[in-house]
Amino acid sequence: MKYLVTGTAGFIGFHVAKKLLDRGDEVVGLDIINDYYDINLKYARLESMGISKDLIEKGKVISSQSLEGYSFVQLDLADKDALSQLFQDQMFDVVVHLAAQAGVRHSLTHPEVYIQSNIIAFLNILECCRFNPVKHLVYASSSSVYGANEKMPFSTSDSVDHPISLYAASKKSNELMAHTYSHLFNIPTTGLRFFTVYGPWGRPDMALFLFTEAILKGEPIKVFNYGEMKRDFTYIDDIVEGILRVADRPAQPNTEFDPMNPDPGSGKAPYKVYNIGNSAPVLLMDYIRAVEKGLGKEAKMDLLPLQPGDVPASHADVDDLIRDTGYKPDTKIEDGVKAFTDWYLDYYKVNPNE
Ligand SMILES: NC(=O)c1ccc[n+]([C@@H]2O[C@H](COP(=O)([O-])OP(=O)(O)OC[C@H]3O[C@@H](n4cnc5c(N)ncnc54)[C@H](O)[C@@H]3O)[C@@H](O)[C@H]2O)c1
Repeated sequence: MKYLVTGTAGFIGFHVAKKLLDRGDEVVGLDIINDYYDINLKYARLESMGISKDLIEKGKVISSQSLEGYSFVQLDLADKDALSQLFQDQMFDVVVHLAAQAGVRHSLTHPEVYIQSNIIAFLNILECCRFNPVKHLVYASSSSVYGANEKMPFSTSDSVDHPISLYAASKKSNELMAHTYSHLFNIPTTGLRFFTVYGPWGRPDMALFLFTEAILKGEPIKVFNYGEMKRDFTYIDDIVEGILRVADRPAQPNTEFDPMNPDPGSGKAPYKVYNIGNSAPVLLMDYIRAVEKGLGKEAKMDLLPLQPGDVPASHADVDDLIRDTGYKPDTKIEDGVKAFTDWYLDYYKVNPNE
């Protein structure tokens, strides 16, 4: 099968592309390679897949020098004409759309980017799938769509009409747009609400990375909501497994869909939404203890109030995922955090005892 994976210079897209290649699929990776965080980490991810920085040229599909079946193109998804041309040339079987402007807090200061990279870009993906039919469009949504909801665990049958950041609103918009295209053009679409993803090659703007950096420097870490946070941290390999299992099962119309009592997570159209989370929330303080253990160093802490746009707790209901794919994420925090700290120390060549 030939996959388009968007966001392959990013954290999750990089891991997904690798796993697809491991199992023998063909992958075209796409990314704008923006500088939202350290661009060198993005180039290093690409480099580790045989895509040399020197060969990258905007709009040009280049083949990996080390991985059979992998090619990469630097492209802005907001560039409709270039994306259209790519779809016509490549004829993808499946699209896994992971590129986006991520980050809740950044959306308070840079709202326009979220419209460009999450809304316009997504419209272009939908239009390309409309005119170049694919077997399945799988795209990243987010647990942040649950916004002001407090009923736990968060279920895809809950209404999610109260986002508390523009980032969350952009992800919820993607789900609505996907439903429209599934309904009008019969495109099977599945949205995946990821719950706080962490692991090797992770994102430098996220807590685990920031904690590790600060602890190693002997600086205090910022602990929001005075540590009173519970998060459903989900290990990257579990997210990847969930994405692939879902991608292999194109969304189907829900034959029991009742328009008099509409289920928000499915439809008469081939449209579906899943949560992918560990479904075992961890106290932020326990997460911090796992980082300390991984590094063999104690954290100094600055206890701070909850940040605007952030939620104090998350917990995924993954019953639908288990029912439809037979899979449940289950990596333990201690194991996942240790894999991250080991990667970090090796990648940045840091000795925590110096
Ligand atoms: N990491 C998490 O905890 C998490 C949680 C929930 C949802 N998500 C979603 O999962 C997806 C992947 O997240 P990630 O953590 O890998 O983020 P990431 O920032 O590491 O990767 C996203 C990539 O998309 C690229 N991109 C942004 N705008 C683009 C555009 N206009 N055209 C082409 N490429 C563009 C960026 O350059 C980046 O490399 C995103 O959609 C994100 O919103 C992530």
